[in-house]
Amino acid sequence: MKRFENKNVLITGSTQGIGAACATRFASEGANIILNGLNLDAGGEEMMNKISLLGGKVKFVADNVSKAHQSINLVNEAVKAFGSLDILVNNAGVERNKNFWEVTEEEYDLVMDTNLKGAFFGTQAFTKYCIENKRSGVVVNMSSVHEEIIFPHFAAYCASKGGLKMLMRNLATELAPLNIRINNVAPGAIGTPINQKLMADQEKLEKVTQNIPMKRMGTPEEVAALVAFLASDDASYITGSTYFIDGGLTYHYEEQ
Ligand code: NAI
Ligand code: BGC
Repeated sequence: MKRFENKNVLITGSTQGIGAACATRFASEGANIILNGLNLDAGGEEMMNKISLLGGKVKFVADNVSKAHQSINLVNEAVKAFGSLDILVNNAGVERNKNFWEVTEEEYDLVMDTNLKGAFFGTQAFTKYCIENKRSGVVVNMSSVHEEIIFPHFAAYCASKGGLKMLMRNLATELAPLNIRINNVAPGAIGTPINQKLMADQEKLEKVTQNIPMKRMGTPEEVAALVAFLASDDASYITGSTYFIDGGLTYHYEEQ
């Protein structure tokens, strides 16, 4: 029996990168998938085909999670897609590399609204659905090592992921009586389009990987394996925690 047979899973921002790897992993373990992105681009089309080939049902819902009403609509459409929703992965995220003193309100809003507000209202809509239908549920948020450690020149990004840490901790207690589990996954440097610039700069990439005890970036598939574990019944007693997946980056110590 596959772990996610008859389970319906919504993954926000799943046209590429970590979200796409999560969708693929859930589908390979039997799930039906609701994909999401701002619009159905080539990546979304490719994912639709990939999931279908894995044998699961798939639907793409275009919504911008940085707008509360669209984030809520996305969850409601996901419920309608296959009649129920079991797992929500709040994965969509953006970052902007800027000196703190140059960040505009527009850039701040984009980062905070996509990474934090989207997860807030998506999880709220999912919670209401679970209450109304007397169902249990699982939420996994894609946080970052930067919910814990600094990332100079990414102040808004760090604020959004720090917020996601406290949102998750708060909701774990509030939602436990409703049988809804919620956890964060906190990746370090992962090889996805968000790191395109870094990966194209050999010198910078070398510096970044030398600072990681395992001396390499992680893969989206490695992150997806952790997400699937936390979303599965294998993690039935796990709620309210952050799981780091970072090759040792967060708590490392350089021996002198
Ligand atoms: P990516 O840029 O490759 O993918 C982001 C996805 O989110 C895309 O599918 C994009 O279409 C979607 N998206 C962006 N804004 C959206 C919006 N407003 N509404 C709906 N969808 C939207 O990035 P990656 O690396 O796959 O990142 C996914 C998540 O993982 C993000 O939350 C990011 O902060 C987090 N993360 C990534 C790390 C990395 O090194 N790649 C490390 C730590 C965390
Ligand atoms: C960021 C990446 C960065 C990684 C490690 C992630 O949250 O999105 O750009 O490489 O953290 O610093």
